[in-house]
Amino acid sequence: MAKIERDLLEWPERTERSFPTPAFIPRVGNVDLGLDRLDGERYYSPEFMQAEWDKVWTKTWQLAARVDEFSEPGAFYVHELGKESFLFVRGDDDEIRGFYNLCQHRGNVLCQADTGVLDTFTCPFHGWQWNNDGTLKRAAGAELFRQFDNGIPTEELGLPAVKVDTWGGWLWFNMDLEAIPVKDYLGEAGRQLEVYGFEGWHLINYQTFEWNGNWKHAWDAFNESYHFAELHPDMIEFGEGHDIPIELLGIHSRMLNFNRTVSQVVEDRDTMTDLRAHMMLRAQEGWRDKETASFSGKAKDVHLEEIRHRRSIEEDTYLPYKQMNDEQLVHQYHYSFFPGATMTQTPEGGAVFRYRPHATDPNICYYDFFILAHLPPGIPKIERPPHRVHRHVDGIDYAAAFGNTFDPILANVLRQDGSNMTTMQAGVKSDAFKGMILCDQELRIRHFHMMIDEFIAGSITTDSLPPGDAYLLKD
Ligand code: FES
Ligand SMILES: [Fe+2]
Repeated sequence: MAKIERDLLEWPERTERSFPTPAFIPRVGNVDLGLDRLDGERYYSPEFMQAEWDKVWTKTWQLAARVDEFSEPGAFYVHELGKESFLFVRGDDDEIRGFYNLCQHRGNVLCQADTGVLDTFTCPFHGWQWNNDGTLKRAAGAELFRQFDNGIPTEELGLPAVKVDTWGGWLWFNMDLEAIPVKDYLGEAGRQLEVYGFEGWHLINYQTFEWNGNWKHAWDAFNESYHFAELHPDMIEFGEGHDIPIELLGIHSRMLNFNRTVSQVVEDRDTMTDLRAHMMLRAQEGWRDKETASFSGKAKDVHLEEIRHRRSIEEDTYLPYKQMNDEQLVHQYHYSFFPGATMTQTPEGGAVFRYRPHATDPNICYYDFFILAHLPPGIPKIERPPHRVHRHVDGIDYAAAFGNTFDPILANVLRQDGSNMTTMQAGVKSDAFKGMILCDQELRIRHFHMMIDEFIAGSITTDSLPPGDAYLLKD
């Protein structure tokens, strides 16, 4: 158990009432998933990549975009996943739909802009056109097609649909038209996050990183905190990731990273150094009270002061402090939704990570990074920096990639995370690689790969999901 966990358990000021989101402390155990090594082939085999496409990506719910991207009829958003391009658009009838972004004439990619507002989508090759509800508007030179002698089969030539749904202010999509609603798919894990009110959050930056490693290396890198001590020497000065609580929630999972403390792996946890003060005491967001600015206690205890403060203003803030357990007020509730989305946040804001496979190459992935803020109600949509794809092979300046929306110290943490992708991809291919040995702090990785295997085997499907407590130890 992390020392901070004991500090919180024994804290006399702990708030004792019930909250919608279950606390991590005291810990609930997880069932034993064994000690098998994780093979390397799953990270580079084209056959495994194809099986993932057939049984995982095309059968599960994926994050597409913020719902507020579709603020008017005709507003559209193009998103790529694997070999597919998708077109999401609000129709003139106000319904948001999703389609394969595919010209039905000879298969060109239909819409070649990322976003915009259109009532008609025109293929640049021969000029076939579709309405913003996906129906065919015009087959150019229809008289040249003998197939249309008896009329144009407009139904057959509509854009092929994907299923869409909304949750948490996000548009989600599923290539399986029979899929259960996204809320049911997210299940207990989704329910636990409802209190954050993501619908009202603002997206303030979205950037994509193309890394030379399989998408699962990216997933693995952001779903354990065991690497903090070695890879992120700055981060352990203002956060705790050592021996933290983890819970498996059906096919999804969560962990608790502690903010505004000094990790127990650091010897001096008391002194308020410049770095600690910068990351723990300053007003990190302009709209937040600066209560801890005058803090004079031990550096490792800043979080307690913040919990105390936030609890004291719970009646007077638009932030949902009142509905949140003590841990949630300050610490990082980190959830991953199978297979491709992570949401990690405090009440004030957070990040969403999305992991995507390359179209054809298991050695390349896309890591999408969204920064969101929970601003006071009534603030209009924020103008944000343009979305770009930053490619590892070009060299990435992570601080510059985020502009001024991300602290350079945190941008450097992301640089450190990205730095292992190419070398991990190389290493798992070695003839001498015996498979990964995973510790209990890497349990989410073990569980995640097990879920992929279960989906590929067909023993878990979206229609037969394990309940949210399937892998938790019952008392
Ligand atoms: S390929 Fe699109 S109109 Fe011909
Ligand atoms: Fe990391």
